[in-house]
Amino acid sequence: MDMEQVYTSNFKVGAYPFYEHLRKTNPIFAMNEQNAQASWMVTKYDHVKELLKSPSFIKDQSKLFSNQNEENDSGEPNLFGNMMLDVDPPDHTRLRKLVQPSFNPKTIKHLAPRIEQIAEELLDDIQDKSEPVDLIEDYAFPLPIIVISELLGVPTEDRNKFRKWSNTILAAQDEMNQDFIQDVEAFTQYLTELFEKGSAHPEEDLVSQLIESQEDGDKLSRNELYSMVVLLIIAGHETTVNLIGNTMHALFEHPAQLEQVKEDHQLISGAIEEGLRYYSPVDFSTARWAGEDMEFHGQSIRKGDFVMASISSANRDEEKFEQADSFNITRERNAHVAFGFGIHFCLGAPLARLEGKIALEKLLERFPNINLDASRPSPQWRRVFLLRGLDSLPVQL
Ligand code: HEM
Repeated sequence: MDMEQVYTSNFKVGAYPFYEHLRKTNPIFAMNEQNAQASWMVTKYDHVKELLKSPSFIKDQSKLFSNQNEENDSGEPNLFGNMMLDVDPPDHTRLRKLVQPSFNPKTIKHLAPRIEQIAEELLDDIQDKSEPVDLIEDYAFPLPIIVISELLGVPTEDRNKFRKWSNTILAAQDEMNQDFIQDVEAFTQYLTELFEKGSAHPEEDLVSQLIESQEDGDKLSRNELYSMVVLLIIAGHETTVNLIGNTMHALFEHPAQLEQVKEDHQLISGAIEEGLRYYSPVDFSTARWAGEDMEFHGQSIRKGDFVMASISSANRDEEKFEQADSFNITRERNAHVAFGFGIHFCLGAPLARLEGKIALEKLLERFPNINLDASRPSPQWRRVFLLRGLDSLPVQL
């Protein structure tokens, strides 16, 4: 199998048996042996943690064969050039420090009443709806995008634009594609106007704080400002929608556990953790590059090779998790790596967990008889390589 097949087949359907086969036979898997620069997929739990923690695998490819910093602050702003997720220390440390306080568990806890209110409002709309309900479209998508938009200070009514742009960006296989170019231009233009407004009339929100950091001088460059906001918008909703959708999907597939959760909402936190492990919303880590020639668990990896971790595979590793292919909301010691590991460990994990918990609590409180709508086509996985999420999840209330 090569990357092209991964993109073109509906890979998600048979992914778990495929990963199991790799873990047993070829755990550091060469995805494109014929190319000069090899691409590797790491599939075992322990190896994935080692990869994500090791400074020998680096994020900033531009530093591999030269010591120059590629950033160019002249001309058009670059949405992706200087993302926190794509850089190494010391830049990573500096960027993460700027946003970490806004995402600490203590800070995030204060958002609970507002998240509950948003959930209730969405459920009111669902209750009033005459058409069939799609849990993704009507609930799992709007909830996190409204929360992250409010936190950042971007207008929530623009959420469908963000959805379109991030869809195009995440699905992009070819950066010369016309849709990709157009959507990136539109997103850039949108942010330029947002930053101009934010600079003239600062508010108490995170975008205003970031603009201030940029204007203050050396804390944040212009490209870093753009790519930070793009990262937070995309990571803030594309993932949590899947957490809510995938966990409900797994519960519908396991009706006895769904009944248990309906009867005892204390089980919801365990269901969320098991949802993260069983149908991990982020299937793969983002790219890393080997910073030097090395041996990695029996494979010779050369400097510059592309290496990625299969988070979904690690989370189903039978050497780590008992009955790894079983969904079990009361699983003990569920040390999954759904939020990654090491210095790039998910910034939004406390927020995602809180949103997931509130989303399920409020949904099951309002609609205790909720079930999958078996009269409509069965849920399909979206064809997005990095993520595992459903296109739609039709339900009966
Ligand atoms: C269920 C929901 C989520 C999952 C499964 C998830 C998963 C991940 C994973 C696996 C990584 C590490 C990627 C790598 O090392 O290559 C990551 C990083 C990140 N996530 Fe999340 N994420 C979720 C929600 C969020 C939310 C709500 C935010 C909102 C701010 C967010 C922001 C970020 C950021 C900024 C990073 C990069 C951190 C860094 O480079 O230091 N994520 N996430």
